[in-house]
Amino acid sequence: MNYRHIYHAGNFADVLKHAVLARLIEYLKLKDKPFRVIDTHAGIGLYDLSSEEAQKTGEWLGGIGRLMGEDLPRTVAPLLAPYLDAVKALNAATNVMLYPGSPKLSRMLLRKEDRLSLMELHPEDYETLHGNFQGDFQTRVTHLDGWLALNAHLPPKEKRGLILVDPPFEEQNEYKRLVDNFAKAWRKFPGGVYCLWYPLKNTAPIREFHEALFELDIPKILAAELTVKGHREEGLIGSGLIVVNPPYTLKAELDLLLPFLKERLAQDRFGLSRCWWVRGE
Ligand SMILES: C[S@@+](CC[C@H](N)C(=O)[O-])C[C@H]1O[C@@H](n2cnc3c(N)ncnc32)[C@H](O)[C@@H]1O
Repeated sequence: MNYRHIYHAGNFADVLKHAVLARLIEYLKLKDKPFRVIDTHAGIGLYDLSSEEAQKTGEWLGGIGRLMGEDLPRTVAPLLAPYLDAVKALNAATNVMLYPGSPKLSRMLLRKEDRLSLMELHPEDYETLHGNFQGDFQTRVTHLDGWLALNAHLPPKEKRGLILVDPPFEEQNEYKRLVDNFAKAWRKFPGGVYCLWYPLKNTAPIREFHEALFELDIPKILAAELTVKGHREEGLIGSGLIVVNPPYTLKAELDLLLPFLKERLAQDRFGLSRCWWVRGE
């Protein structure tokens, strides 16, 4: 396990993931009934962007760094508000130094009746995560393999839930594993909202990934992708999210949000955004 999210916290991929995560939580809050957020690959929860690791890559400068302190268009400001307000709440000025990972962001948005389950396998990152949520009775942190733990957590006793699956994609077969494990989880909890993250790289089997999702014959699978640089570039050129059972408003929101994020976050003229149904109703 080499991956440490501190090097990437707040980058363009985090912006898309966390903006959508916040929208999904806000939507769940529209009903009175409690829900649970399950974050299978949680990271440490809260990131210090002034740390040596974050400063070394400076990735956040091309992500959250491009959104803070800027006037946002009237159409997208309310869509980004739950996410950006959480970031602002952690930082005194427009200068972002603390950045909420998915656990902290989720926790900041939950009501007192909602619950958060976090899994993290890396021993040190687990310790940090655990420390960040010590004494918080709404949050349970476990040092477990997120893939295995997910199965044991479903269906949540609240019967309403959002499942974020955000693996590091260190292994060759990670796209297949994501599809297989999602299918297993969906069979145990078909009513859950699922948010699955995946990287866009020029060598990645993206078409096969979408085809495999389509072949599952599971309804209401939405895909959203944001590419920030040309397909000939090495490494991460963008990221995608699969949202299963999305709020009925999400597609329209993403049709506004993604082009804006492309404008703000693209690193060259090959920026691209798209949102489509892998499977409809
Ligand atoms: C992309 S990071 C998570 C970032 C976090 N979700 C966020 O948005 O702030 C992936 C995390 O998964 C952890 N991890 C890797 N394999 C895992 C596994 N099998 N089960 C649980 N966590 C794992 C890594 O240590 C890393 O912290």
